[in-house]
Parts: sequence; C-alpha cells; structure tokens
Amino acid sequence: MRGVYLGQAMTSDERFGRGLGATAGDTKAHPALPLVRPVIGALQRINRALRWLSTQTHRLQGAVEGRFDRRRMWFDHYIDVNYNWLAQGDATFLERGLFNRMCLSPDADVLEIACGDGFYTRHFYAAQARSVLAIDIDPAALEFARRVNSRENVRYEVRDIRLGLPQASVTHVIWDNAMIFLTEEQLAEAVDEIHARIGQTGKFSGYVAYEPHLHQPFVRHTFRDSEGLAEFLKRSFEHALVFRTEYGGRVNYYFVASDMPLAAAVPAIVANADVPGV
Ligand SMILES: C[S@@+](CC[C@H](N)C(=O)[O-])C[C@H]1O[C@@H](n2cnc3c(N)ncnc32)[C@H](O)[C@@H]1O
Repeated sequence: MRGVYLGQAMTSDERFGRGLGATAGDTKAHPALPLVRPVIGALQRINRALRWLSTQTHRLQGAVEGRFDRRRMWFDHYIDVNYNWLAQGDATFLERGLFNRMCLSPDADVLEIACGDGFYTRHFYAAQARSVLAIDIDPAALEFARRVNSRENVRYEVRDIRLGLPQASVTHVIWDNAMIFLTEEQLAEAVDEIHARIGQTGKFSGYVAYEPHLHQPFVRHTFRDSEGLAEFLKRSFEHALVFRTEYGGRVNYYFVASDMPLAAAVPAIVANADVPGV
C-alpha cells in the first residue's frame, strides 16, 4: 500500500519503520544498523523539537484568533491536532472524521454542508470518497480551505444552505456541527431535500453538539437527546442510527440515516462486529 507524505510516495514498510532493508518476517538486524543508529536518534530529536515548537505556535494561534477574531464560526483544526490533542490529550475532534469515514463508500460522491476550514473534507472524506463538493456560507472559511486543505477531488463553493442544496449529483451528504444554525422548520426542509437528492440508496451522516452550559445566542435549534434526533431524521428517512459521546458537559450526537437498512448501508458500523452482541 502506498501513501504520499511530504510529496514523496512511501510504502507501508517505510511508514512502519521497516524500510531500511528488512523484509517482513526477517528477524535479523540489518548489518548497517549500528552505523545508522545515530542518524535515527538525531531524526527523533529533531522531530520531537519540531513537535514542541509546533505545539507552541498553534497554542498561540488559537489564543490570538480566539481573542481577536471572535465572530467567525469556524476553527482551524490543525490547532486541534498540534495543540489540543498533542499537548492537552483531547482527541474528541477525531470522532466525527472517523465516524463519517466509516459510513462512506469508496465510490461516494459527497456533499459536505458547512465544511468550515476543510480539515475533515481533505483528511477524512476526500481521502475515502470519489469526490467531495464542500459548501459553507463564509467566504473566509473557504478561502482558508482552498489554500490549506485543497485536494484534487474536492471543490469548495460558497453557499447558504438555507437557500437549498447546490445542483450536483451526490450519494452521501455529511453535515457536521452546524445544524444548530437553522430553525427546526429550515432543518426539516433541508433534510427533506437531502433525502430527495440522495435517493433510496444514499446516506446522510454527521453530528450535532449539545452544550447546555454555554451561552450561544446564534443557536436556532438544538437536539437534547438521541431519541429526539433519531425521530427527527425518521420523518424523512426509513432508518436512522444515533449514538452519543459526552465530555465535560458537551454531548455529541453522531447520526447516520438512509432508506437502506443500516446493516447494508453502513456495514462497518452495524454488521461487521466480530463479537456480535458485545
Ligand atoms: C462550527 S463550524 C463547523 C465546521 C465543520 N463542519 C467542522 O465540523 O469543523 C460551523 C460552520 O457552519 C457554517 N455555516 C453556518 N451557517 C451556515 C449556512 N446557513 N449555510 C452554510 N454554512 C453555514 C459556518 O460558516 C461554519 O463554517
């Protein structure tokens, strides 16, 4: 399996540290290892120092943006990677990317609503799907996304979802952390349109957060429990699955909805358990 890192194609062996001549199953040390050891040590020290520096600069970026750019509704998730995760141990931001990616088929044509900085678009959705059309109401978010999170199979387009879906053929719609900006009526209309657009074999997934401890004047509608969200989705779709995670008073509701039985629509989540019932 090959991946592209810093513009260089890398094999799995190289990625997992077996790229210095050993083959799988070879347990003998490479004869040149004693010579190479200082190089490995130096690279480990350089990378550790760079990670430390990156953590500091991302912490600073988060602090400055939070203080002076308060009105914007999107976030640079590289701050999550480099500071909140590496220095604070908060891995919550990974959940939505991994969950939606597990719902995606490799031949999916995705519409991502309210993509913000494009971090999930590039690293989770476009890495798995055939194509992604990612929309957001904020031109500044998309300017950032195009500059920092572009990819061959991604198109970013400025659009207010309250005006309807863009003209495009899509099989999977993802809507992460932004349904709260619409009223219940606007949401119902949008979810109906999503259902009509993706058809009987399409999938709709994403997540909504519930943060009762925060003052959020921009919130137009919240879901307060999994049952309420599942019921809402089932007004448009035959099947809906919701599960929740909770950290420090913030509840995250992850959902996937389809007219297909979910064991067929999202087998990685429903039907692939090695130990059924556990
Ligand atoms: C909290 S961010 C979520 C971004 C991304 N989905 C994520 O999970 O990180 C909310 C995003 O919703 C966008 N947004 C708010 N109202 C919108 C609307 N009516 N149509 C399209 N995007 C909207 C904002 O510009 C912002 O980028």
